[in-house]
Amino acid sequence: MVFQAGQPLRFTAVQPIFLLTIIIGVVFYGLVYSVWRVLRWYSFRRHSGIPEIKELGKTRPLEQKLDGMAIICGGSIAGLLTARVCADFFKQVIIVEPEEWLTGEDGMRRFCSEQEHKRTRVMQYASLHGSQALLYAGFRELFPDLDEQCRYSGLGVFPGDRKNNFAGTPIPAPVDSYGGNLPKTIYSGRAGLETLLRRLVLGRGSYPNITQIAGTVVGFLPHSEGDASHVSGVKIRRPDLTIEELDASLVVDCTGPTRAGIKWLSQSGYGTTNANTDSSITPETLAKLPIPPDQTPETVTFTLLEDGVENGRRVIALIRGDGNEISLFAGQSSDESVKYESLDSMRSLAQDLKTYQKRPIPGWLYEAIDILEEAQPEIQFSHVRIPPTAYIQYHRTVNLPSNFVALGDSVLSVDPIYGQGCTKALIGAAVLNKILLKSIKTPVTNNKHLPTNFSEEFFKEHFDKTDAFWQLTHLLDYGIPCTTPVPGENLEAGSLVRWYLRRVQILATKDAQAARVFWDGANGFGSAVDILHPWLVLKTLFDTAIGG
Ligand SMILES: Cc1cc2nc3c(=O)[nH]c(=O)nc-3n(C[C@H](O)[C@H](O)[C@H](O)COP(=O)(O)OP(=O)(O)OC[C@H]3O[C@@H](n4cnc5c(N)ncnc54)[C@H](O)[C@@H]3O)c2cc1C
Ligand SMILES: *[C@@H]1O[C@H](CO)[C@@H](O)[C@H](O)[C@H]1NC(C)=O
Ligand SMILES: *[C@@H]1O[C@H](CO)[C@@H](O)[C@H](O)[C@H]1NC(C)=O
Repeated sequence: MVFQAGQPLRFTAVQPIFLLTIIIGVVFYGLVYSVWRVLRWYSFRRHSGIPEIKELGKTRPLEQKLDGMAIICGGSIAGLLTARVCADFFKQVIIVEPEEWLTGEDGMRRFCSEQEHKRTRVMQYASLHGSQALLYAGFRELFPDLDEQCRYSGLGVFPGDRKNNFAGTPIPAPVDSYGGNLPKTIYSGRAGLETLLRRLVLGRGSYPNITQIAGTVVGFLPHSEGDASHVSGVKIRRPDLTIEELDASLVVDCTGPTRAGIKWLSQSGYGTTNANTDSSITPETLAKLPIPPDQTPETVTFTLLEDGVENGRRVIALIRGDGNEISLFAGQSSDESVKYESLDSMRSLAQDLKTYQKRPIPGWLYEAIDILEEAQPEIQFSHVRIPPTAYIQYHRTVNLPSNFVALGDSVLSVDPIYGQGCTKALIGAAVLNKILLKSIKTPVTNNKHLPTNFSEEFFKEHFDKTDAFWQLTHLLDYGIPCTTPVPGENLEAGSLVRWYLRRVQILATKDAQAARVFWDGANGFGSAVDILHPWLVLKTLFDTAIGG
């Protein structure tokens, strides 16, 4: 607008009532915003696990270390992370793992593709895998030379731009919001990640006091006469079937879905617990495919979760695995077993998926499927029926031995579609680090024993940091018609939250703040209340109102 000289500027008189409304509105917003800030601060500190992860990896001088042994039952992701943490606090750490080959060279190979054995007790070993960016951040604290070690083993470390989308419509990665430095993540398959971690913990002599032995933990040693407050050790069945006994200052259950800890506890007369279940199914396939033009071979990713759950929240994904491997994955939640055992069935699934605003699936995915069909490479089909999720509520259990804790999938498992399982194990290890740190600061009468409320403190803190994983799985799975609700509930529970989450994702396809909240949530960063930022709530409601 150009003002000509001499022309007076004119203002319309503003009604006082209008001004007042604006002032009240601004003050009200300011108040709500302040409350949200406080809530956010609290939620971040109490529930995110991020401050605890930043405390990882600070080795203590020998004289501060506890006498006796920490026994870690299970040598997978949770067990290896726990052993690494315990090495900072105990003079001796022993991992007991049934799969004997993991104790030798083959379990710690530089390149997992050269492994002669395959895991028999971890069904997702050769399955589609994605790591959240927070997992990389935690690994970095524990292993300062992580980037170099990843490179050595051929694992990619790149900014975590997973080409997110809402049912086919891209949600841009919040690169600007992170000042151009989007947090990094590890691009690898499950075998690559697990083998790297085992090599870092056991394979290069950095932690000589961590040893792994082949065996299955079958129970606790009977506690000493008249003192049931703690267990004195564990019973192990070695591969030659002999039973061995090991004394322990601390026993950690990292047995994953076996959840052996509750069996040992009840055999020894300790407290009772309850588990909840619901269910889902996923078939899966592996193949070699070409790379789309806007991505790099190292980070190639395509995942699409359909909009709507009538068909069991179907999903199709293509992700870079270990070595030259590419995984093509199809899955859905259903009561019966659904198999996608041909490339044609994958193609039909892609065509049939309900995308947002009927946006077509990118052509390169179909091209890739065509090329595959023509080339007929060796394809490995693997059909994985995901066991029901479960939650052992240790935090509600009374009468636990004071030196027993559990973490990883041995406590709770979640719907694997969100790739949170390994982050959850990391957070468990970070909680253990925090409680151990607190314990060595409080004077202990006998250096061998942890404080009498050690286990209680651990499970309380572990609950604070991991319950949200369960709540999210619970909330989202209830949106799927074939889910069996927990007794006393019905599938309507959480429908308003599901509606809001969907609307925020739609907004995230066009709004930077929403996109940042979405990315943080998908990568383990941020806090659970970020999605309730008052400005974001207003924008989401406005976007819904205008039919966006
Ligand atoms: C199909 C599928 C896909 C998944 N995809 C992802 C993903 O993309 N990203 C992600 O982060 N997570 C994913 N997860 C979840 C993730 O794999 C788990 O959360 C993670 O493996 C848990 O690690 P853990 O060490 O607690 O248990 P596990 O990895 O299950 O390991 C348990 C260990 O305990 C040992 N053991 C069992 N019984 C005993 C005993 N009595 N004594 C001693 N040792 C014992 C076993 O041999 C094994 O080594 C997926 C899960 C599934 C099922
Ligand atoms: C490793 O174990 C040996 C033997 O028990 C012990 O003397 C030594 O102090 C331990 N070292 C560390 C770093 O804990
Ligand atoms: C555990 O004991 C310590 C020291 O006695 C105390 O400060 C702490 O609050 C106790 N924790 C729990 C969860 O009761």
